[in-house]
Amino acid sequence: MPDITFIQHDGSRQTVFAKAGVTIMQAAMENMVEGLEAECGGSGSCATCHCYLSLGWHQKVQAPDSNEEQMLEMVIEPKEGSRLSCQVKVTDAHDGLIVHLPECQY
Ligand code: FES
Repeated sequence: MPDITFIQHDGSRQTVFAKAGVTIMQAAMENMVEGLEAECGGSGSCATCHCYLSLGWHQKVQAPDSNEEQMLEMVIEPKEGSRLSCQVKVTDAHDGLIVHLPECQY
């Protein structure tokens, strides 16, 4: 069961265990991690589940599809490593994944 560490904008951290096959957003919601609104419930249509994968990690997960790339143009403060957490599935290969959360989603 891979662990994921979420780092809030203020530097506080929370490490959770995720079942392989869930998305980063689902892992966060199941473990009461704050900072993701996820208003559309994971359908990739709201961009309120924006997160940043640490450099190195964003190259180890599946690449964003064209819909996610378009939605990422709408987020506040996009950076290298920006992803919609509802579109990134966790696998056992992602043990130790580090996810930074933005200061806000709007
Ligand atoms: S939860 Fe809406 S785009 Fe991810």
